[in-house]
Amino acid sequence: MDKKISILGFAGSLRKGSYNKAILRAALELVPKDAQLEIFDLEGIPPFNQDLENDPPERVKEFKKKIRAADAILIASPEANYTIPGVLTNAMNWASRPYGDNAFDGKPVTVMGASVGMLGAARAQYHLRQSFVWLNMYPLGMPEVMVAFAQDKIDAKGRVTDEKTKEKIKELLESLVAWTRKLKG
Ligand SMILES: Cc1cc2nc3c(=O)[nH]c(=O)nc-3n(C[C@H](O)[C@H](O)[C@H](O)COP(=O)(O)O)c2cc1C
Repeated sequence: MDKKISILGFAGSLRKGSYNKAILRAALELVPKDAQLEIFDLEGIPPFNQDLENDPPERVKEFKKKIRAADAILIASPEANYTIPGVLTNAMNWASRPYGDNAFDGKPVTVMGASVGMLGAARAQYHLRQSFVWLNMYPLGMPEVMVAFAQDKIDAKGRVTDEKTKEKIKELLESLVAWTRKLKG
């Protein structure tokens, strides 16, 4: 069998009860057999300070190392005021710097999102896709996973209870793995 595809996942929310952390946890159980998923918590990544970009804080170094070691990236993003949450933009800013040392360079990537609203973080997801251009990442086209009204699909213990949502996450992971294998040649 081919070597397993390693996926690094992170959510753009720090809160314990995060719906986006919940869909990432669900992904742990839905990942195809020929792949593995590791989750990185953005907790502990300080606000970006360009004065420190050449020797960033330890947590940032750890984040960049995990990104580099992964074959593919999976982002679970909420939406904040119609765009990417600050905590996620901040972490991605660190990982992309200094100029010439962008940890995301050339990585296959996909994004999913959950929100309590009716669009499932769609706007944040499209804004992320715009950033992938400059980051030189290779975004998967379809499927898109937009978990709208997340409070009805994820229970109080942070478990995804909606079968359709689980199906979509599974499909996303399978497509990401196939996409990554295709790019690896
Ligand atoms: C500052 C702030 C801005 C928000 N803006 C949006 C928004 O633009 N669109 C949306 O669908 N939900 C918005 N929400 C609601 C989020 O969908 C909801 O808080 C969601 O649970 C956040 O994701 P999480 O559960 O992973 O933390 C906002 C919430 C906060 C706190």
